[in-house]
Amino acid sequence: MAAEKVDPVLKERCKDLILDLDTLREISRRFLHDVDKGLRKDTHATSIVKCFVTYVQDLPNGTENGKFLALDLGGTNFRVLLIELSKDHFEMRSKIYAIPQHIMLGSGEQLFDHIADCLASFMKQEQVIAETLPLGFTFSFPLTQKGLTKGILERWTKGFNCSNCVGNDVVQLLKDAIARRGDIQIKVCAILNDTTGTLMSCAWKNPNCRIGLIVGTGSNACYVEKQKNAELFDDEDKGSGNVIINLEWGAFGDDGALDFIRTEYDRDVDANSVNPGRQLHEKMISGMYMGELTRLALEKFTKEGLLFEGKASDALFTRGKFYTKYVSEIEGDPAGVITSCRDILEELGIYHATDQDCFNVRYVCECVSKRAADLASTGIATLLNKMNEARVTVAIDGSVYRYHPHFHDLMMQTISTLVNPGIKFDLMLSEDGSGRGAALVAAVACRTQQKG
Ligand code: GLC
Repeated sequence: MAAEKVDPVLKERCKDLILDLDTLREISRRFLHDVDKGLRKDTHATSIVKCFVTYVQDLPNGTENGKFLALDLGGTNFRVLLIELSKDHFEMRSKIYAIPQHIMLGSGEQLFDHIADCLASFMKQEQVIAETLPLGFTFSFPLTQKGLTKGILERWTKGFNCSNCVGNDVVQLLKDAIARRGDIQIKVCAILNDTTGTLMSCAWKNPNCRIGLIVGTGSNACYVEKQKNAELFDDEDKGSGNVIINLEWGAFGDDGALDFIRTEYDRDVDANSVNPGRQLHEKMISGMYMGELTRLALEKFTKEGLLFEGKASDALFTRGKFYTKYVSEIEGDPAGVITSCRDILEELGIYHATDQDCFNVRYVCECVSKRAADLASTGIATLLNKMNEARVTVAIDGSVYRYHPHFHDLMMQTISTLVNPGIKFDLMLSEDGSGRGAALVAAVACRTQQKG
């Protein structure tokens, strides 16, 4: 951190955003306790960290082939993809469709009709409208799965809140919408979380890959667990003996386990979200909230006279106006350079910032993103220690990890500090886990189905 040029008073005021090593160890201890609770049959129902069984057992081995459709719902964009896999090669065409806010907050029927609409128009465009293709559905919300093609929505997260979906099988909702149209045929082979897709997408090339992580709009992780430890796994087919567990770690802290580190900014972000009291860990880590956390701190410090001589702009004082990408851009300037910071402040209508203000603003950004990286790292280190394998690759995707200039390095550092001696790990950027991963899960499912 470029702390040397930071105003010491402001620095002192940022202390509640900094997590020391003992605190991270305590968080790790609490997280592990919650993971174990989620895995066990007798405690799963009351566990905050759900550890959902995904029924994805087999990792891809590079021999998958064929033509697949994929849907990706739950990040910044909704996408439809057409993927062709052949040995060590894949080709992909995709289209992004907007999901307007009135649909994100509307009825489930509207949402799935819209999805089916986009799918049909894409299939027409790609001239596969007459084919019945296997489809993998990346649906990045908490699901209780009853097999690879049945997922009951437990609750909405991030910005979604559609009625009549919670408690229902999302695959059926999709099939119903497709049936209402009557003009396309598909074969849903798998429904999966984006973390699973991310893991699969890396595992295709890298056999050490055992953990999938998303630090994007939301945050969550999955990992490969032995079936005997996943007490809720009840498939007759024991296959590989392993199964991927979708942790849904975004909910960690919803019972107060993180209250000892939450700040007034966290409480504010939560109170003004569509799901107050929910996803408290995610709200400290992910891209949907990072900009706003920073803005709240900047607003407060301005009002206290620690920034901009006490005067900023309407934009800086308006919810949602400080985008998460600003944090990445500001920290992207080399140490001592403040070009991006100045540009962004001007975009926000602040023209009178001094160099000192810029150094201070950067420091606030650094505190917020380092805390996010520390929390994500603590979760990953906890898993690495729990898995206790000699070498594990962590597959990662999401806008924060991808675009923040130091997130990877921050995570490397913190995980190295927390991981038990003898365990080696790497963090690998996953290429389009939600799209390619969905096709791979569908392909592995087809392969297994053909075999059996
Ligand atoms: C939210 C969702 C989770 C998803 C994550 C990242 O936490 O509940 O399923 O994996 O966002 O997109």
